[in-house]
Amino acid sequence: MGTSTRQASPFLSTFPGRYYYDPAIYAQEQECIFSRMWVYGGVANSLPKPGDYRVLQIASESVIVVRNKQGALQAFLNVCRHRGARLCSAASGHLNGSIQCHYHAWTYGLDGRLIGAPNVLNRPDFERALYGLHPVALEVWQGMIWLNLSNNPPSLREQLDDPRVHDFGSNGAIERYCIANLNVGKTMVYEVQANWKLIMENTLECYHCGPMHPELCALLPQYKTGLIDGNDGTEFADNVEAFTITGEASRPPLPGLLPEDHRRYAGYFGMPNVFLNLLSDHVAIDWLEPLGPASTRVTSEWLFDPDAMASPDFDPMDAVDILDLVNRQDWEVCELAQQGVTSKAFAQGGNYAPLEHHIRDFVDYILEKLES
Ligand code: FES
Ligand SMILES: [Fe+2]
Repeated sequence: MGTSTRQASPFLSTFPGRYYYDPAIYAQEQECIFSRMWVYGGVANSLPKPGDYRVLQIASESVIVVRNKQGALQAFLNVCRHRGARLCSAASGHLNGSIQCHYHAWTYGLDGRLIGAPNVLNRPDFERALYGLHPVALEVWQGMIWLNLSNNPPSLREQLDDPRVHDFGSNGAIERYCIANLNVGKTMVYEVQANWKLIMENTLECYHCGPMHPELCALLPQYKTGLIDGNDGTEFADNVEAFTITGEASRPPLPGLLPEDHRRYAGYFGMPNVFLNLLSDHVAIDWLEPLGPASTRVTSEWLFDPDAMASPDFDPMDAVDILDLVNRQDWEVCELAQQGVTSKAFAQGGNYAPLEHHIRDFVDYILEKLES
């Protein structure tokens, strides 16, 4: 009788289940990844005027990003130097020249210096220079804000030079889209009841695109196969003019693109928390803020050419609606996946099918960071 030889398994394992819900692992990730790496924090043009600010959650810290009076962006811990009260409670807004604490009215300039403290500011024994807001390192690259909680971080360039950290157009694509010149036409914020890594993993594969994203596959037929684009992007269907809910173009292409950019979608990811969607007439950036082991805030910013936005009939919604639809489909399945990870059936983790194999690189990167 013949013997049968078992084939090597075509599967690779995911993280074990506890990596998606254990508070101790979550805390370790916040310490080893989000407190040490440069973390994406929105486009610079979302804060166009002095005094414009937004508040971000990075690891266990609340961080204020504000444009100062000189027009530069700065970031500070959102904590009063008197007795620690939260300074800015809203997610974003505009400050009229200073940041004032509600509690005892200590006041800080937009550059973080203490400029007001009732009864004590002018005491000779009060060294006000020691009581400015704690700065957070901030760099702007390609119009995108990056923040780092470390006291002496390496440069952002050093992080971006590691090819495992991102796949931002090694073909020069990202430069052609000139993100720094685009303005925000729409922002949406989602709270997803799923671990941030489930969202990253979901975005890193298109095995789910056929079953989950019929509207997306109508625009990008290759996605029906589950194959994701390489660095050159994915072609539109023959009858599709633009990446919009109708498939029709309602804006001219972005200046600076190559003719071949006009009919394709290019998606890039950057560790630890950002995805870029580069389209012919807009750019959409999705980014994550982990809020807890099973909760993640996702912000999507849709960016357009300022000339197109100045047109009286400018309407971003045909671009917004398609990605918003895809986003909501994604969040639904990420939340379903979260509901399974605590089961004993998932204690050892699941399996990546061959089309998802590359996600294992993400897993290995995270595991390496957790040991560092
Ligand atoms: S805690 Fe902010 S002024 Fe007292
Ligand atoms: Fe998806």
